[in-house]
Amino acid sequence: MKTIKIAPSILSADFSKMGEEVASLEKCGADLVHCDVMDGVFVNNITFGIKMVQDIKKHTSLPLDCHLMIVHPEKYVERFAKAGADIITVHYEACQDNLKDVLQLIKSTGVKCGAVINPDTPVEKIESVIPMCDMVLIMSVFPGFGGQKFIPTALDKLREVKAIVEKCGKNIDIQIDGGVGLDNIQAVKDAGANVIVAGSAVFNAEDRAERIAQLKA
Ligand code: DX5
Ligand code: ZN
Repeated sequence: MKTIKIAPSILSADFSKMGEEVASLEKCGADLVHCDVMDGVFVNNITFGIKMVQDIKKHTSLPLDCHLMIVHPEKYVERFAKAGADIITVHYEACQDNLKDVLQLIKSTGVKCGAVINPDTPVEKIESVIPMCDMVLIMSVFPGFGGQKFIPTALDKLREVKAIVEKCGKNIDIQIDGGVGLDNIQAVKDAGANVIVAGSAVFNAEDRAERIAQLKA
């Protein structure tokens, strides 16, 4: 049984004091820092890029989990790796034909790699690349914004991914992202997720340490 890791999404942080926000996550018991990179093209929102990753790296020793919601991720992978990303996940929908090559490129930089699918993309689209991933990310909202409602069909997809991961016998993390909080974390864990992204659930809590402890419990 894998232990649950909490990856707060800094999309819900105060961008004007990102250094402090990231440093506080470590004190509050987070396991990874989930960095939502959005380009305004792949998704209908714009966040931050390579420079932000490079700067927040100085404020934490937690692994930086970079979720790239951008077109042509292959163009930027090496620079994100150099900036201090510890894991880079890329969308099937942004790569399609070259997903395998992009994952290989991420690996070649020495960084962990992962494939992501949107709520309307079936697991079978990434099945063939799962064995080469360090992590598989199932989106439980359409990417772009924090604070959206969890889409329950993600639970079936987690179960599907779990079966594939077990069959291939590798140590692959299963991550869930979007609308996860105290009300459904048990369900996503039972369905197979072991890395839990939580944006609003952590950042909107009055006591973030308490909230992370509650999520883990
Ligand atoms: C959505 C992002 C998520 C989001 C999660 O596009 O990928 O990481 O910030 O936020 P919550 O937990 O509030 O749904
Ligand atoms: Zn994300």
